[in-house]
Amino acid sequence: MDKIKDTSANEILIGTEKFVPMISEAEIQKRIEELGKQISEEYRTKLPIFIGILNGSFMFMTDLMKNIDINCEIDFFKLSSYGDEKISSGKVKLVKDLNADIKDRHLVIVEDIVDSGLSIKYVEEMIQFNQPASMKVVSLLMKPESLKYDVKIDYIGFKIPNKFVIGYGLDYAQKYRNLRSIYVLSE
Ligand code: IMP
Ligand code: MG
Repeated sequence: MDKIKDTSANEILIGTEKFVPMISEAEIQKRIEELGKQISEEYRTKLPIFIGILNGSFMFMTDLMKNIDINCEIDFFKLSSYGDEKISSGKVKLVKDLNADIKDRHLVIVEDIVDSGLSIKYVEEMIQFNQPASMKVVSLLMKPESLKYDVKIDYIGFKIPNKFVIGYGLDYAQKYRNLRSIYVLSE
């Protein structure tokens, strides 16, 4: 198989589309350290459950957990994919449910990116049904301009413009999740 086409200018070519660096590995790691500190402080006595939304959040979840220095548990939801294109299907389906009993527990939902807000809205509604003690959301990225649903994101890594991004968990037709930094489609 081909290697990912990273040109000398550190751009990634996918067919005729060009992705350019947006957030570096170092910037991501620095911000996650800050988020980890902040969240650890807030949950020090609460034994929270961190709930990652698969697939996109797997890398962020991993690095965030390394920066959480309090006792906690982890679990995962898996939602159906964004489709194979750059535009959301507007539909969300649960593919894997939680294993943890979340009643009366403090929950932190971990997302890669909030775009329209539909996925988070869907997850929040499912979770509320099981009566947790509290629920907050941390998302590495957020596109404030494309938000369509009434959701509150409690901790945000980076606010970005309404553009398609890949890398660090985020895919384009299921690929490029393994990139260490975030790239944006250049126009
Ligand atoms: P939402 O439901 O519209 O908020 O979209 C959230 C989900 O869509 C994220 O968890 C991602 O999996 C995916 N997504 C949104 N924007 C992008 C992007 O720019 N690149 C890759 N995936 C994205
Ligand atoms: Mg996702």
